[in-house]
Formats: sequence, structure tokens, C-alpha cells
Amino acid sequence: MRIAVLSGAGISAESGVPTFRDDRNGFWSKYDPYELSSTDGWKNNPERVWAWYLWRHHLVLDVEPNDGHRAIAHWQDIAEVTVITQNVDNLHERAGSSDVQHLHGSLFEFRCDTCERHFGDPMPDMPEPLHEVAPPRCGCGGLIRPGIVWFGESLPDGPWNAAVDAVQRADLMVVVGTSSVVYPAAGLPDLALSRGIPVIEVNPLATPLSESATAVVRESAGVALPTLLQRLAAAGSPSEERARKSN
Ligand code: APR
Repeated sequence: MRIAVLSGAGISAESGVPTFRDDRNGFWSKYDPYELSSTDGWKNNPERVWAWYLWRHHLVLDVEPNDGHRAIAHWQDIAEVTVITQNVDNLHERAGSSDVQHLHGSLFEFRCDTCERHFGDPMPDMPEPLHEVAPPRCGCGGLIRPGIVWFGESLPDGPWNAAVDAVQRADLMVVVGTSSVVYPAAGLPDLALSRGIPVIEVNPLATPLSESATAVVRESAGVALPTLLQRLAAAGSPSEERARKSN
């Protein structure tokens, strides 16, 4: 069986990583996330944008994957799994998923905003959250930026092509923890539906995908995904199921 998973910020919520569109009462609540994750935001105030990503980088290092990430990693025992994630954390990888495609980049990739050279030096510490921190400088004089796909930038070809290929080959698609409003990622479930394969949405709240999804599980990822793992393991692959039915 081949499973394509599309995950969003909601799968990391139970690890303590804030989502983008939930009520924002945190340290950064007075700033618009679009301002902090856009090329204009970087041009206007690189110190603020750098402080936000450095804070999130350290926040992710301080948290752990949750039962939802672990369940998806365990699906690899019964199926070929490609995780297509909009998340920039590394929690899928740390839970054990081996094929993870980051459509929106990673908090653990850094490069020069001018010569594009990879920046591999250790990240500066951030003992307390600050609203502005000067980003490191590259030898060429450019500023070091996070390897994140900002609003206004195109998705990386590699992960995007791998994501489309995975959805085109999948027998099942599971969409978990995403508000399904940001394209082109939000278009992937439509591609799966157009192929006639089942699309299961896991989200405590309704989204624009809910109506067209084959099934909707109104549960948190940490509760729903381990249960889904048991059901998939019990059901076996569709070919085994067909063989069982024909007997
Ligand atoms: N389990 C499953 N889903 C959850 C949970 C949970 N425990 N908690 C919240 N959710 C759901 C919310 O109901 C919401 O639908 O996760 C979704 C989070 O939506 P967003 O905050 O919009 O995050 P996401 O869909 O990943 O955003 C997509 O937008 O801001 C850009 O580039 C950014 O990658 C991001 C993209």
C-alpha cells in the first residue's frame, strides 16, 4: 500500500508548537505572521524576521514529536509512506519518518540572502525571546536568512515534484492538521480525489477540504492517527482486501 500524508501546523500543536491561525496570545501575537514570513517583511526589518525564526528554531529543539508524528512513522512498517509537510519543524524526521518533503522549507536550513551560499555555522543562542536580533553576515556581505519559503516565493522544485509524484502513486491520502487554505499545497488532496483514491481528513475543525474528503475524523492528530494506524494494519493492503473479498 502507498500512503501520501499532507501535514500542517496542527500535527505539531500537541508538541507545543503554535499553529499559524489559532488564537494568538503568545510573545509574537502583536505581529502579523504574514509580515514575519514574507520577502517584504525581511526587506523591511530583517532583525525582527530573524528573531522570530531563531525563536522558533530553538522552540522546536526544545520540544518532542507527539503520538501523531510517531503513528505516521510507524505506518512505514505496513506501507510505503511519503510525508508531504507544510511544517518547517523537524518533528516528522525525529519521530522516524524517512521520506519527508518540506514544501515550505525548514527551520534547520540557512543560507545567504545574496550569494545563496549554505550557512552551516551553529545558530546563536536565544536565552530569552527578543523581538529583534541582528542576523549573521555572510562573507559576501549578505545577511543569513532562514531556508523558509516566504509568501511571494515559489516552492522548491524537488519537494514539490516529489509530493505530486507521491500523490499520483498513492492508494490513500491522509490530510492532517492543516487549514487547507494555502496553495499549491492545498490543491494536492484535489489531485488525489481526481484519481479516485480515498482522502481522509484529520482535524478537530472543519476546513474547505472537509466537504469533498472521503472521510473526516474530527479528532486531534495525537488521538486519531494511532487509531488509524491500527485500522490500516488490520485492513492490510487493498490487494489483500480484494483477495479476501473474492474468497
Ligand atoms: N490535531 C490536528 N489538527 C489540529 C490540531 C491537532 N491537535 N490543532 C489544530 N489543528 C488544526 C486546526 O484546526 C487548523 O485547521 O490545524 C490547522 C492549522 O492550520 P494553520 O494554522 O493554518 O496551519 P497550516 O494549515 O499548516 O498553514 C499552512 O500557511 O502560514 C502559512 O506557510 C505557512 O505552512 C503554513 C501554511
